[in-house]
Amino acid sequence: MSRWPNAFFMMAAFYIVIGTSWGLYMSVTHDFATAPAHAHLNLLGFVSLSIMGAFYATLGKNTPRWLVKTNFFLNSIGVAVMITGLWLLFTEKATPKQLVPLLIVSEPMIILGFVSFFTAAALSFRRGPRLAA
Ligand code: HEM
Repeated sequence: MSRWPNAFFMMAAFYIVIGTSWGLYMSVTHDFATAPAHAHLNLLGFVSLSIMGAFYATLGKNTPRWLVKTNFFLNSIGVAVMITGLWLLFTEKATPKQLVPLLIVSEPMIILGFVSFFTAAALSFRRGPRLAA
């Protein structure tokens, strides 16, 4: 069996450790300026990667390997780059203008990652449930 679902869960767990620690830091310092970045890290990093990992472990087992890898790298790297950009933005360590290159790369990466996930889901729909196992 492919280890790619495990890779999705490993990255999801990594991001939720950072995301929840970040939440704790905001609670303790009462500085909520970066809350939207925290929320996006948890939702794109933990929730989305977990759902995709669960899909590839079950219904999407027959997805072509290249498509799973594309989905994994686009989403897991895209989120790290995007959250770094958002953190720099909300802490005012960089101006929106300076951050354009970071966001212009990471946001399409994440969208394309979801496009690849859609493709995998559509392929599994076409194959039907009996061939998934
Ligand atoms: C130990 C766990 C967590 C802690 C301590 C924590 C803490 C916080 C804090 C302090 C805020 C800011 C609240 C405010 O602006 O008044 C916040 C916002 C938020 N958090 Fe968390 N959080 C945790 C886990 C999560 C998880 C697991 C998710 C999603 C899967 C999440 C999603 C959000 C969302 C959507 C917001 C609102 C962001 C916004 O208003 O822009 N959080 N969290």
